[in-house]
Amino acid sequence: MMSRLFLLVKLDSTPVGGLESRFEASSCLKILNLSIEKKFQKKMIGSYLLKSLEDYISEFHRDINKLSGIAGNDSKAFYEKNGYTFDGVFHSKLIQV
Ligand SMILES: CC(C)(COP(=O)(O)OP(=O)(O)OC[C@H]1O[C@@H](n2cnc3c(N)ncnc32)[C@H](O)[C@@H]1OP(=O)(O)O)[C@@H](O)C(=O)NCCC(=O)NCCS
Repeated sequence: MMSRLFLLVKLDSTPVGGLESRFEASSCLKILNLSIEKKFQKKMIGSYLLKSLEDYISEFHRDINKLSGIAGNDSKAFYEKNGYTFDGVFHSKLIQV
């Protein structure tokens, strides 16, 4: 089974969002779910979470050179704003090492 990486964001000690991702065979980390609790959306917390994931991967997983996710209705603009490009199926970003 391929391994997964989870991140949780807390404000003070309250969880307000998180993500689930999976290491793929092809040097890629796939974001399976990314969600911020409704009343905390649009405050850049999702962008912070994504950036934290990118920083962690570039520091500790040098074998991974790409992150990709499937954007739902609301998240297309979110991924694009964070520098991800759409290839027809996924929104992806290359990771600098
Ligand atoms: C998508 C989601 C993770 C974004 O997190 P967030 O913390 O609200 O987003 P940010 O505040 O970091 O937004 C950054 C940019 O993304 C875009 N964006 C974010 N949410 C958006 C929305 N609902 N509609 C359109 N654009 C959106 C905006 O361009 C925003 O920049 P701006 O505020 O300067 O215009 C969050 O809204 C969410 O949990 N949605 C429901 C679940 C979901 O769709 N998950 C993704 C697929 S698994």
